[in-house]
Amino acid sequence: MCGIIGFTGNCDAKEVLIYGLKTLEYRGYDSAGIAFFADGKIKTVKTVGKVDILADKVATEVFDATECGIGHTRWATHGGVTEVNSHPHTAGRVTLIHNGIIENYQKLQEELEKQGRKPVSQTDTEIAALVFDSIYNGDPYETIRKGCEKLEGAYGFCIMFADRPGEIYAIRNGSPLVATLSDKGAVIASDMVALIKYSKDYFVLPEHMIAKLTKDAVEVTDLKGNEVKPEMLHVNWDIAAARKGGYDYFMLKEIHEQPQAISKTISPRIKDGMPDFTSDGIDDSLFKDLSRIIIVGCGTAMHAGLVGRELIEKFARIQVNVEIASEFRYADPILDEKTLVIAISQSGETADTKAAIEIAKKSGSKTLSIVNVKGSSIARESDYVLYTHAGPEIAVASTKAYTVQLSAMYLLAFKLGYINGKLSKEAVKGLVSCLRKVPSDLEQILKYDKQIETISNILTKAEDLFFIGRGLDYTLSCEGSLKLKEISYIHSEAYAAGELKHGTISLITDNIPVIAIATQKHVIQKTISNVKECRSRGANVILITNEGESVDPALCDHQITIPKMDDRFAPFSVAVIVQYLAYYTSVHRGLNVDQPRNLAKSVTVE
Ligand code: G6P
Repeated sequence: MCGIIGFTGNCDAKEVLIYGLKTLEYRGYDSAGIAFFADGKIKTVKTVGKVDILADKVATEVFDATECGIGHTRWATHGGVTEVNSHPHTAGRVTLIHNGIIENYQKLQEELEKQGRKPVSQTDTEIAALVFDSIYNGDPYETIRKGCEKLEGAYGFCIMFADRPGEIYAIRNGSPLVATLSDKGAVIASDMVALIKYSKDYFVLPEHMIAKLTKDAVEVTDLKGNEVKPEMLHVNWDIAAARKGGYDYFMLKEIHEQPQAISKTISPRIKDGMPDFTSDGIDDSLFKDLSRIIIVGCGTAMHAGLVGRELIEKFARIQVNVEIASEFRYADPILDEKTLVIAISQSGETADTKAAIEIAKKSGSKTLSIVNVKGSSIARESDYVLYTHAGPEIAVASTKAYTVQLSAMYLLAFKLGYINGKLSKEAVKGLVSCLRKVPSDLEQILKYDKQIETISNILTKAEDLFFIGRGLDYTLSCEGSLKLKEISYIHSEAYAAGELKHGTISLITDNIPVIAIATQKHVIQKTISNVKECRSRGANVILITNEGESVDPALCDHQITIPKMDDRFAPFSVAVIVQYLAYYTSVHRGLNVDQPRNLAKSVTVE
């Protein structure tokens, strides 16, 4: 949510900033802006719309060479999408960019207005700039320390002071910031994808510490001025992973990366055919004596939790609740030391999921996170972390991050089943070998692209549609429905197939598309009966089921079959099918698949 970049070094900062903003655009894309030192003064260029428009605007003006600047791509919270509300914001000698929300901005604004300091925008960010400027006495450290004492809420700031060319200061509370020093200079950003061009080594700016960037140093100090040496991290992917690589959209590329991402996630965690988390620093004691497991997450990550619940309850017979993190944090949940709370998050920065983990820790529960981004807030906040290895996921609609989360949930469920005496070693080994086959199964499903591209034509003109399924198929319906609605803008709902008759069936009329998922053997015939109920009310049915399943051809318009396999592993294949359905429907509707309206990839505000 909001992309931030700052650069000071020995090449043209404008180019570094524009390039960085393009890589960060998935974090927000309603407006963008940069500010930089040119001819000894700070110049700002802002625009409503995408980074490309900003790049064109910058190119139309001739600026002196510049070696220090900050840039921002916005996902609006306070104040509409206008140029004046875009970042960077300047107040007197202070120019800054911000990711987060200043919650007490109204009170601060009243105080500032009494001093005759009036904002020109409707943003909370400009208020922060006014606060810093009202304190600034030539000492950036004192200004930042005293300014932050007044601010309530979440923030990641990069700040330039008009009288200190070549220097960028940064501080954060909640919102992410990562930094690196390379032979080109010092770079700071809200996400590693903007740094990878310069270095694979980086550090996460610790919260409430100040980073000072100059062209040949990045110094970090605590609020008392003591030097701090943050832990250096390394990414194991390279710049190609953050580029489209010949695909029309990142989403399509990421769909295709799933077999490899799953292999990378599971292989290091299988020893002698058994799940093993010792390289993650997790020993078996974490999985013993649990009375309950709670899985928390948002969006797609929460849907991975729904699959996790089915698996853990099936294999380990431990009660699992799946909670939407934004609800959990205010629900006064019942937690104790025998509860294991598992947070799932691609970015590791989702504010609600982070808050959920904090609550769990305070209540004495054990916490484990399944996270894709190394060193992210949720990973650092949890007692234990299991990193998935999807590499950078750029498309807003999550695909590979979801299936790697599933693969981690399978390994955890097997481990829990074994440790708690519900699965024998032989049974676990059999299940692990099925899981190992998933990447090659998915290579087959990836070849369904043309078939699904054609089938999705029947969805293109729909205004409403439904996904139905039971058990694991229902959890996949939830994810399929979310995927489709977020990138095609078609209203879609997921229903447990047996629940339709309790209300929703009144919405099934002629030509309403129903995507029925029926891969789980013990309930296939039940779901088929529900499909019949839809069909007899005029629905256009797309049926996803197993190869060899005998289905009356009159029951559906299109049947998509997955190769014969142990049905407990069908979710991976179904995931790719529903991802393709969403992708091609969005493409047919002429939409921007990777950057759906109003959404952002990493939601660091409540
Ligand atoms: C946003 C994204 C979703 C994602 C959710 C949770 O809503 O658009 O794709 O599933 O956040 O994100 P996380 O990073 O915690 O997995």
